[in-house]
Amino acid sequence: MADTDSFIPALHRPSSLLPIASHRDALLYTIENNPVTIVVGQTGSGKTTQLPQYLERAGYCNDNKVIAVTQPRRVAVTTVAKRVAEEVSCEVGQKVGYSIRFEDVTSAATKIKFLTDGLLLREALVDPLLSRYSVIMVDEAHERSLSSDILLGVLKKIRKRRPELRIIVSSATLQAEDFLNFFKDEEAQDGDHASQEEQNGRIVSIEGRAFPVDMHFLSEPCEEYLERAVKTIFDIHTSEPVGDVLVFLTGRDEIETAIEMVADRLPSLPKDADSILPLPLYAGLSTEQQMYVFESAPENHRKIIFATNIAEASVTIDGIVYVVDSGFVKLRAFNPNTGIETLTPTPVSKASATQRAGRAGRTKPGKCYRLYTESAFDSLEEATVPEIQRSNLAPTILQLKALGIDNIARFDFLTPPPAELIVRALELLYSLGALDDYAKLTKPLGTRMAEIALEPMLATCLLNSPSFNCLSEMLTIAAMTSLQGNVWFSHDNKKAEESARRKFAVEEGDHLTLLNVYQAFVTAGCKDAKWCQQHYLNFKSMTRAVSIRNQLKRYLERFGIDVGESLSATPSDPVLRVGGMPKPESIRRCLTSGYFSHAARMAPDGSFMTVDGGTVLHAHPSSLMFNRKADWVIFTEVMETGEKTFIRDVTKIEKSWLMEYGKDFYRVKGN
Ligand code: CDP
Ligand code: MG
Repeated sequence: MADTDSFIPALHRPSSLLPIASHRDALLYTIENNPVTIVVGQTGSGKTTQLPQYLERAGYCNDNKVIAVTQPRRVAVTTVAKRVAEEVSCEVGQKVGYSIRFEDVTSAATKIKFLTDGLLLREALVDPLLSRYSVIMVDEAHERSLSSDILLGVLKKIRKRRPELRIIVSSATLQAEDFLNFFKDEEAQDGDHASQEEQNGRIVSIEGRAFPVDMHFLSEPCEEYLERAVKTIFDIHTSEPVGDVLVFLTGRDEIETAIEMVADRLPSLPKDADSILPLPLYAGLSTEQQMYVFESAPENHRKIIFATNIAEASVTIDGIVYVVDSGFVKLRAFNPNTGIETLTPTPVSKASATQRAGRAGRTKPGKCYRLYTESAFDSLEEATVPEIQRSNLAPTILQLKALGIDNIARFDFLTPPPAELIVRALELLYSLGALDDYAKLTKPLGTRMAEIALEPMLATCLLNSPSFNCLSEMLTIAAMTSLQGNVWFSHDNKKAEESARRKFAVEEGDHLTLLNVYQAFVTAGCKDAKWCQQHYLNFKSMTRAVSIRNQLKRYLERFGIDVGESLSATPSDPVLRVGGMPKPESIRRCLTSGYFSHAARMAPDGSFMTVDGGTVLHAHPSSLMFNRKADWVIFTEVMETGEKTFIRDVTKIEKSWLMEYGKDFYRVKGN
């Protein structure tokens, strides 16, 4: 008998076997000879992980230059950076590093830098020609994220000034021509008659092997796709050969519910049968938690990954043979009438559904189970509407203005946004004080708002806070509301969790409650994981809040704002009342000065109504305002599930404050 036990499986499939490997020389040649290269290839062909390494080895990092690779998603940035660092045998932050908002893991040694597209745009504020980069690879461009669209427009401008810059646009599906044409028309406009051969960008297509995927549809529409997903998983598990399963759901809540449902049903499996290992993959997970999905399951276990759209193209998980597709995705949707932007579960597009199915056929023939009917599939949109056409554009316009692009309408958009969205954004920025009567950025407020890494309404609160005498508190609130993960540790014992929360509750609302939580954490010494556990707080999130707060503080110091605080002097009664105005009131007023456009009034039935009376909102169960009485409130977080819109971080205010701080906004809207 062969002693197979003494063999250890290779950690990684040799990268020389990836489809991109046979295109290496052609790619390097094309990139060297063309300012713009469009790389098209199936997910998993090696674009993200291999191409930057080829470039680095080919000398693109000489003279201290850096290769930037952008991703629309933070999770993709961190996982991919970790993977590439492993491949080149370095610590993340050394030769290979990454940077996402509030988390910079790079050093002077970093040659390959992964970062979000939004962050690279932000870098352009400081370094308008992005001169430290020799190559900028806009990855996952087919996703058409708001920031990557804008980034392409900005790169097109930069290109004129930096002919040596290499731009790579990489895309999973075949929209390559659109990207190429976008960069092409510039030459036509310049009246440059150089032959196309010399001037234009090029498309390089990396053919990946794709195995056939057997498609299965429901014969009848299902009401509850979560239940149906779980049933399908157990059917696969009991009747199909080995192979892991990837399930596409819309968000964290759904994923956690599905995992509980699987756990509940596990005992129904026969004693001697293989078991199921359900794993989550969504953006709020810690890096360690995310890494589990890449490890192979223990023996006699089938791995089932419940993922959001992250797994559609941004991250590749090996070993997937079965895909279960709910047919839904959470997409940003902006309602120009209410000014509220939500993440709303939306049917996927055909392109998206096809991409999802493809995840099953990477290493061998696979199967895809769609939890909808074939006719439902036929009625789907061909492609997802680009984010720029359905988002709140205030942050984008603020950034473009700060980049010196004053005439927004003339900016070279890959797809122009609807005029109404631009108008709404300008109105909001004007009423926040970021723009003047001529739609120019105000100084210093507007320029500072653009620079600070917060969305404009929150940035306004922070920058206004000195005049409300609550800078220290607003720094904390801004940090706590910027956390991606959860402040509270979800726990089986909901009752105990509730009473733990109640200890921190402040009558005026969630923001002051968060402030209370943070200050208690600081009083407890900031390092006490056990203390957090006792109070059902997420230690990691709290530690992150401390770091975010410090970074925000540094922005203010750079602006020359006197932060002058010593945290050690934090009083034990956190919500202190000082000066003429009770402190909580000045904090609430300060919040209103940024969030007047996010106001609502409680209706007799306990739900909330927006100012224009057009939209019903509900306090999220995790909000302090859930099941409590209030009149007027402002909110900083909106979430949408199935049919309800929830508001989560909510604070009580006075109606008169809306006119006091948002008079321009309400005058413009109501006339
Ligand atoms: O960017 P693209 O979709 O073309 O492929 P990639 O992300 O560079 O992935 C290439 C290969 O690396 C995949 O087939 C995976 O086997 C592997 N990979 C991985 O195992 N873990 C990661 N976090 C990323 C990639
Ligand atoms: Mg990729």
